[in-house]
Amino acid sequence: MAPIIEVQNLNVWFGKSRILKNLSFDIEPKQVTAFIGPSNCGKTTVIRSLNRLNDLQADYRHTGEILFNGKELYSNKNRASEIARKISMVFEKPILFKKSIYENVAYSVRIRGRRQMSLINNIVDECLMKVQLWNDVKDKLHTDPNFLSIGQQQQLCIARALAADPEILIFDEPCAQLDATETPKFESILQSLKQQVTIIFVTNKRRQAARVSDVAGFLYNGELVEIGKTEQIFTTPTDTRTENYVTGRLG
Ligand SMILES: Nc1ncnc2c1ncn2[C@@H]1O[C@H](COP(=O)(O)OP(=O)(O)O)[C@@H](O)[C@H]1O
Ligand SMILES: [Mg+2]
Repeated sequence: MAPIIEVQNLNVWFGKSRILKNLSFDIEPKQVTAFIGPSNCGKTTVIRSLNRLNDLQADYRHTGEILFNGKELYSNKNRASEIARKISMVFEKPILFKKSIYENVAYSVRIRGRRQMSLINNIVDECLMKVQLWNDVKDKLHTDPNFLSIGQQQQLCIARALAADPEILIFDEPCAQLDATETPKFESILQSLKQQVTIIFVTNKRRQAARVSDVAGFLYNGELVEIGKTEQIFTTPTDTRTENYVTGRLG
């Protein structure tokens, strides 16, 4: 299968600081790709470049090529709102609308232009099931999501993203706010979703990347030191910096 994202010689600047240095990599469809590396190495900047969230940042500039399904992601033909729907981002802290659980998810169905109530209801139910939240909320769909735990709120954010029918789901440190009991559930959701959607996530939890990803890329100081099959990166890395990081000697 052709890569869903192709990045060639990506350099990113914020003002005069060069943050990313000559990154080249492909993202394969229906796989889980993890970017790992210590704080401030550029993980968030990479994934924000992949869904044009950096457009909002006045001093952002990049050179190089980012293709999404073979077409220039930053072409003027792509509307940022459409990109945000197809390449959806779930943040570290769950950010929900001040609306009911149902409305949080139904919103994403409506922005796809679907208006039929029975269809919206079906998609809402289905997305809540896919994120393993259905049993917890099925009797409370029309209440405010405030009573949910942080982990459940994160599940609801994922359901809302799925309801927009994205091609890629991107997660930035998705478990940073979760407690130890919520993390395994998140990891199982991630695994089950990859049949439907391409997943990219960023983490500074090495073992989580080792457990969940198919492909792992190690970033250090704005450089993509190495990217490859997760097993290879964690067992036989080619670069000593990668080896030092995955074994815990670095970062
Ligand atoms: N909006 C910004 N303006 C200026 N510098 C930034 C901005 N965002 C990030 N940086 C800098 O870019 C570097 C990489 O940051 P980031 O991508 O957030 O790293 P990570 O997610 O790996 O912690 C850091 O040195 C950070 O200070
Ligand atoms: Mg970050």
